[in-house]
Amino acid sequence: MRAPHALAVAVVAGLVLTVSGSAQPPGSGTFDRTIRTHAETLWERGRSIFRYDTFGDEAFWGGALKLHQAIAGEALGGIGPGVSPATALAVGLKVDIDALPSHTVEAIRSGRLRVDLDDPAVTLALLDANAVVGVKGFRGADGRLASVGIQCSLCHSTVDDSFAPGVGHRLDGWPNRDLNVGAIVALAPDLSVVADLLDTDQATVRTVLRSWGPGKFDAQLFLDGKAFRPDGRSAATLIPAAFGLAGVNLTTYTGWGGVSHWNAFVANLEMHGRGTFLDARLNDPLRFPVAARAGFGNVRNDPDLITSKLPALQFYQLSIPAPVPSHGSYDLALAEQGKALFAGAARCASCHVPPIYTEPGWNMHTAAEIGIDDFQAGRAPDRRYRTTPLAGLHARQKGGFYHDGRFADLRAVVDHYDRTFTLNLGEPQKRALVEFLRSL
Ligand code: HEC
Ligand code: HEC
Repeated sequence: MRAPHALAVAVVAGLVLTVSGSAQPPGSGTFDRTIRTHAETLWERGRSIFRYDTFGDEAFWGGALKLHQAIAGEALGGIGPGVSPATALAVGLKVDIDALPSHTVEAIRSGRLRVDLDDPAVTLALLDANAVVGVKGFRGADGRLASVGIQCSLCHSTVDDSFAPGVGHRLDGWPNRDLNVGAIVALAPDLSVVADLLDTDQATVRTVLRSWGPGKFDAQLFLDGKAFRPDGRSAATLIPAAFGLAGVNLTTYTGWGGVSHWNAFVANLEMHGRGTFLDARLNDPLRFPVAARAGFGNVRNDPDLITSKLPALQFYQLSIPAPVPSHGSYDLALAEQGKALFAGAARCASCHVPPIYTEPGWNMHTAAEIGIDDFQAGRAPDRRYRTTPLAGLHARQKGGFYHDGRFADLRAVVDHYDRTFTLNLGEPQKRALVEFLRSL
């Protein structure tokens, strides 16, 4: 006979409150409270780091590349025409309306205040207000723009356009597929540091940067020096979603590591913040000649402005859900049919396991398994592609799908799988599968 449950015995004895801690309201125990407070603190801190921290990278973007001079323009103590708000919006930079004083916003809305979108001084005022998503300006004692730094939110947040195109409330984790990172960096007056790193000249660096196009960046360029694929097209990848990553094992298109590995990687090696980064895989001079030469596998800075921020940064990122598409934006009945196909005949769920839509476990595949070339996979340690989590696909349609956007839309993705896996899906089945993907 089974022994009676200890809790049941306690309840019967009327001793529940003293015998069983679990009968107390959750969160009231001392360590329970510690956990909850810790979670709230981490979340607050993490959000602020994700949005506003430069990790000291202004020493690179301002100090070395002198990007701030190009932003200010000659009239304001820099060089060239300067970056007007119109230009900034045209290269995909976004403006956070919540950073502006509400009376200013109201005055603009009602037409009482006219803003000159062609005046770089307005860009500088927006920087002063911390309103340019992902970019921080630093004024010198003389009032001039003295430096500029970048933040995670530059690429990994956009806005909801609620005020005007490119101006609205922040959408953290949504990739900014309008952002032309290459065009922005190419504005920098002095790219000699980058040219030296890549063992080339500044003109070549600018050509490469301008080849990326909107919504793309090439994180691996600074490891292997490969700017173009064998077919001559840019080796840059799309900026991925930074939402819906809780429960996902390896991150990045080619599975470099978990969220925190990549956060440390990016903050140190791409943004050029000042921290510590250790990854002995980068010491391989054959696969990662640029990284090996530069010692990227063993980066140390004193003080370290990054490592202490990793816990909160990761916590915040994992708390960002994938956005849900609005009802009415897809055909519910058709999506239901597609759901059955996804799990059944089309075999999608063998890799994209709901509800995380990647493998719970080791989520990596060879190029041959998914029927594409292995160029990008070959640039990463495991020589594989990571199964992309699919939730929130609607929030990242711009620029296409797969790591380089090779498939213009979801129908093209489904056609690709139909061919690769010889699924022999009929037209109605393909439409249903696409509708299901649109519902995620
Ligand atoms: C200049 C644009 C840019 C900036 C700034 C940037 N990222 Fe990224 N991020 C990318 C790109 C592009 C990738 C895809 C890289 C790849 O897969 O090779 C990426 C990938 C990621 C991923 C993996 C997402 C996935 O699908 O698995 C995470 C997590 C991430 N970045 C976090 C951060 C954090 C945190 C910061 C700030 C410390 C940051 N990024 C700054 C462009 C950027
Ligand atoms: C063998 C494992 C595997 C199977 C089976 C599979 N996928 Fe994928 N899927 C992947 C990998 C790996 C990627 C990343 C490819 C890349 O970025 O180049 C991916 C990417 C995608 C993307 C692009 C996501 C983005 O944001 O770029 C979509 C959409 C997708 N798969 C849908 C499907 C559908 C629909 C099916 C079934 C017909 C399916 N997958 C079957 C592994 C798989």
